[in-house]
Amino acid sequence: MRGDFIKTLIACYSFTGNTWKISEEVKNQMGADITRIMTVEQPNWDMKCMSEWLEERADIKPCTTDMSKYDCLILATPVWAWLAPPAVNEYIAQLKNCKGKKFAVITTAGKCGFEDVINEVKDKLEQKGMEFIGAGKFYHAEISCGDYRTRAKEFVESVRLMPAPV
Ligand SMILES: Cc1cc2nc3c(=O)[nH]c(=O)nc-3n(C[C@H](O)[C@H](O)[C@H](O)COP(=O)(O)O)c2cc1C
Repeated sequence: MRGDFIKTLIACYSFTGNTWKISEEVKNQMGADITRIMTVEQPNWDMKCMSEWLEERADIKPCTTDMSKYDCLILATPVWAWLAPPAVNEYIAQLKNCKGKKFAVITTAGKCGFEDVINEVKDKLEQKGMEFIGAGKFYHAEISCGDYRTRAKEFVESVRLMPAPV
C-alpha cells in the first residue's frame, strides 16, 4: 500500500537533541504530528546514568498519549545502555486508545544497542495490541554532521507512510 497516507503521531524522547533532529525531519517529510516526551525532573549526567540502571520509569510532563485520532505511532528514542530510557517506558505505559494501531520505532545511538531497544519497544507496544511496521537506526555521528535527510527519507519510505502524491 505504498503511497497511502495514514495519520501519524511521532512521539520523541531526546536528551541531547539527536533523536529530535531525526524526528523533526521525518515529521516534515510526512506531514505528521509530533509530541515531545520530557521528564518532569532533569537529572544531571551522573544521576541520569545511574537512574538509567536503577529505574524502569521516570515521571514525564503531559504530552500526546491518546491515539484515538491517529492510525500510526512512530516512537523515537535514543539507546541508553542497550535499553530504552525510563521516560520512554513511562510514555508507553500512558499510551491509550492504541489497540489495533500501527507503529514504527526510530532509534539513535553512538554505535550499538539498536536492536535491543527496537525489540524492547516492539514487545511493549505489541502487548498493548499495536502492529509493528518497521524501524529506523541512526548513528549519533551521522546526525551530528547533518547527513541524515536521505536516510530519514528511506525510513519514511520503508514504513510506507509517504503521503499520496497530489
Ligand atoms: C545514559 C546514556 C547511555 C547510552 N548508551 C548507549 C549505548 O548503549 N549504545 C550506544 O551506541 N550509545 C549510547 N549512548 C549514546 C546515545 O544513544 C546517542 O548519543 C543518542 O543519539 C542520544 O540521543 P539524544 O541526543 O536524542 O538524547 C548513551 C547515551 C547516554 C546519555
